[in-house]
Amino acid sequence: MAMMLPLARQSLALACSRAARSSLGPRRCFASASAASNLADSIQQTIKRDASLLNPDPKSDSPSAALVNDHAPYMVATYARPPPVFVQGEGSWLWDIENRKYLDFTAGIAVTALGHCDPGFTKILADQAKTLVHASNLYYNPWTGALSKLLVEKTREAGCMHGAQAVFVCNSGSEANEAAIKFARKAGKVVDPSGAKHEFVSFNNAFHGRTMGSLSATHNPKYQKPFSPMVPGFVQGTYNDVARIPDVVTEKTCGVIVEPIQGEGGVQTATDEFLVALARRCREVGAVLIYDEIQCGMARTGTLWAHGHLPKEAHPDILTTAKALGNGFPVGAVLVSQDVSDKINVGDHGTTFGGNPLACRLAHYMVTRLSEPELQRDVLAKSRVFRGRFERLRARFPDLVGETRGRGLILGLQLTQDPAPVVQAARERGLLVITAGTNTLRFVPSLLVTEDEINQGLDILEDAIAATRA
Ligand SMILES: Cc1ncc(COP(=O)(O)O)c(C=O)c1O
Repeated sequence: MAMMLPLARQSLALACSRAARSSLGPRRCFASASAASNLADSIQQTIKRDASLLNPDPKSDSPSAALVNDHAPYMVATYARPPPVFVQGEGSWLWDIENRKYLDFTAGIAVTALGHCDPGFTKILADQAKTLVHASNLYYNPWTGALSKLLVEKTREAGCMHGAQAVFVCNSGSEANEAAIKFARKAGKVVDPSGAKHEFVSFNNAFHGRTMGSLSATHNPKYQKPFSPMVPGFVQGTYNDVARIPDVVTEKTCGVIVEPIQGEGGVQTATDEFLVALARRCREVGAVLIYDEIQCGMARTGTLWAHGHLPKEAHPDILTTAKALGNGFPVGAVLVSQDVSDKINVGDHGTTFGGNPLACRLAHYMVTRLSEPELQRDVLAKSRVFRGRFERLRARFPDLVGETRGRGLILGLQLTQDPAPVVQAARERGLLVITAGTNTLRFVPSLLVTEDEINQGLDILEDAIAATRA
């Protein structure tokens, strides 16, 4: 792949990356590259910048840009992406098309919990692809049921959602929430056939997805406005505001959805007091309580589900999951109580792809691996390493770095300014991080990230912050 680089750039990049790995370091490499130069100032500046960085963003004349420009006219422009083109992954690392290596603290937005291309996962993927991929929900296969049973058993064993009883398997987080909303609406209709019990409550700052139902529960003008009007009957409450709960959750409420930790919303954590009060109110008015653990679940907080530490009375009636459930393969699931399951009839909901044997066998593997107590203990230990380093950043950059939020390996570092320059400076030094909420840096790495990788990444982040403030 290195052959795709223009020759001069390639030899400089190779020399620099070799130097970066040796004791010389990238800055020393710059000195030797530019010392004897009589090039124009602007070119020297570019060389200086590129040579001082391990992975400078590919330029407009790079192989990456050529590929992106070739494809761009054919892609609906729903994303603004940075220049690198990723072609390979292993563990916590990604490689771009120009053969540069990046430490990935994003895990595909909290998806690749076992890292990129986990060998066990890849083996199962290949094996099941040779056996049976899809035969539709019109027929039985061994894996939809096996995954459903495992999810229920492991959830109960972990002391989470004690009433978990049955599972609906789908293809994504939005679809899981869409199903949960429909199940709540159906439950409301069964309880009150007049249809008056149809309101659906969610909270400010939440993110539940992009389909019209899940979007209607995502009360954020940025996402809703272009597509209004939303589905009727969706009501917004205030996250962590215990006093306001009875105003929004009423006899008209059929369902309430809440993230125990809001990921997109800036890694905001629900208080135990709020979730207990919300659950009590749901029971009082006969509304279904839904926990959206699409981002924060699947061992990311050090327990199988993020609500695992809560008293039983605050356990949900429905739990939605996706993301890490497939480690990158599209799959989502909705766990429901017996009471909810009893209210859903044949034909009420369905999916063509959801529950196919390939996705379900992979998800079965993921649930097995992420239920391991040792893996979960390690998540908490790694979280402490991150937090220690965040404290160091706060001490060094007190006017920029604020509080740390979250649990386990879903962590938010609050900045006082737009983190975009830091994100770019980190990427150009070989570290991928993402943002969330307002000025929050979000850390959702692979759960198998090593202590050494965490320290490497945070060394890079520290350099990147320093560079943006120079
Ligand atoms: C909490 C939460 N719910 C739902 C979704 C939507 O999931 P998907 O993008 O798989 O549809 C996301 C995605 O970021 C999420 O973080």
